[in-house]
Amino acid sequence: MIFITGGAGFIGSNFVLDWLAQNDEPVINFDKLTYAGNINNLASVRQDPRHIFVQGDIGDTAQVAALLAQYKPRAIVHFAAESHVDRSIHGPAAFVETNVNGTFGLLEAARSYWSALPDTEKAVFRFLHVSTDEVYGTLGPTDAPFTENTQYAPNSPYSASKAASDHLVRSYHHTYGLPTLTTNCSNNYGSYHFPEKLIPLIITNARAGKPLPIYGDGQQVRDWLYVSDHCAAIRRVLEAGKPGEVYNVGGWNEKANLDVVHTLCDILDELDPKATGSYRDQITYVTDRPGHDRRYAIDARKIERELGWKPKETFDTGIRKTVQWYLTNQDWVKDVQSGDYLKWVEKNYEQRQSSVEDKQ
Ligand code: NAD
Ligand code: DAU
Repeated sequence: MIFITGGAGFIGSNFVLDWLAQNDEPVINFDKLTYAGNINNLASVRQDPRHIFVQGDIGDTAQVAALLAQYKPRAIVHFAAESHVDRSIHGPAAFVETNVNGTFGLLEAARSYWSALPDTEKAVFRFLHVSTDEVYGTLGPTDAPFTENTQYAPNSPYSASKAASDHLVRSYHHTYGLPTLTTNCSNNYGSYHFPEKLIPLIITNARAGKPLPIYGDGQQVRDWLYVSDHCAAIRRVLEAGKPGEVYNVGGWNEKANLDVVHTLCDILDELDPKATGSYRDQITYVTDRPGHDRRYAIDARKIERELGWKPKETFDTGIRKTVQWYLTNQDWVKDVQSGDYLKWVEKNYEQRQSSVEDKQ
């Protein structure tokens, strides 16, 4: 079986659902259930004996060690993290605690478990660390996309904490021989995406008749990847990646934020039209994110060349599926927009000056 951390979050729950849909190998899903973890994402596998959910903190080395000893997984896939850049600006401590100290605790439990395995099991064991393109910093408009050799230059407390975790993982391979794999992926989108992030926030705010907040001039560029493609990349790296290696994962889909928001408004205008006007009328420019990275882009040629992975979904097909998912899963949306979510929205957006003028 495999041991997953953070499997109740956005990407982790998609990974668990995809894994169990194509594979009979059981999954231990270890998740703290922070505000971002949602057990309802896993409702369809609640009765499935192949899915064992355990609530806990990756920093609790003793609990992780006990679970590893009990279930004897052949791999750990590490998704658990604090993941939202804006939250890391308001409160960086949780990011250091989970992303740095938590990953360290998990690595310690993994090292001690792996060291005691018989040689044959030791050889096939893998620790796959799921990381981000944000560790590479920001690109200018004509810079080449990030490769696995791009120098680290994290700019937010979130990306700095992820960079630190990447370094710890690297050191556990180099020093102790732990068979690690690291993936650095670009922006994901798709089902079960918590509506604090741009795409689900825009869809849910649009339908609620609320402002669609664009930070700064909206010309920041992200490289979007449909979440199922990311999950497929992780499965492939787990299956065939070389221990100690890093694989960049991306969608070859660079888009400016404003273009993404326009696309979402246009799909909503078609699938769920307003009584009058367009969802674009709700676009509101707000004060920029401090330290906002201007452009991310991933060079995903290594994973394609060495492991044969490339994305299946185009942005046009993936974004349409995503909007449709939010339209048909209104109960999920209502459920996650609870008291804590409303407090976050107030904290993040109330101090931003806004202007409703559409600059395009
Ligand atoms: P998410 O915030 O949606 O989910 C994180 C999950 O981790 C939640 O279920 C939460 O309960 C759990 N968690 C948090 N702290 C924990 C702890 N101390 N112990 C155990 N569980 C804990 O995040 P996501 O967007 O699904 O991202 C998953 C991983 O992928 C992260 O490591 C993130 O850095 C990385 N990543 C995300 C993206 C993206 O676009 N979302 C892109 C590249 C990489
Ligand atoms: O690049 C990978 C990263 O992508 C992951 O490591 C992070 O976990 C994930 O959250 C994501 O980070 P971003 O900061 O790029 O994602 P977010 O959805 O928060 O923002 C996307 C872009 O949209 C970014 O340029 C900021 C902008 N934005 C965001 C919000 C929430 C807005 O303009 N308005 C908003 O209200």
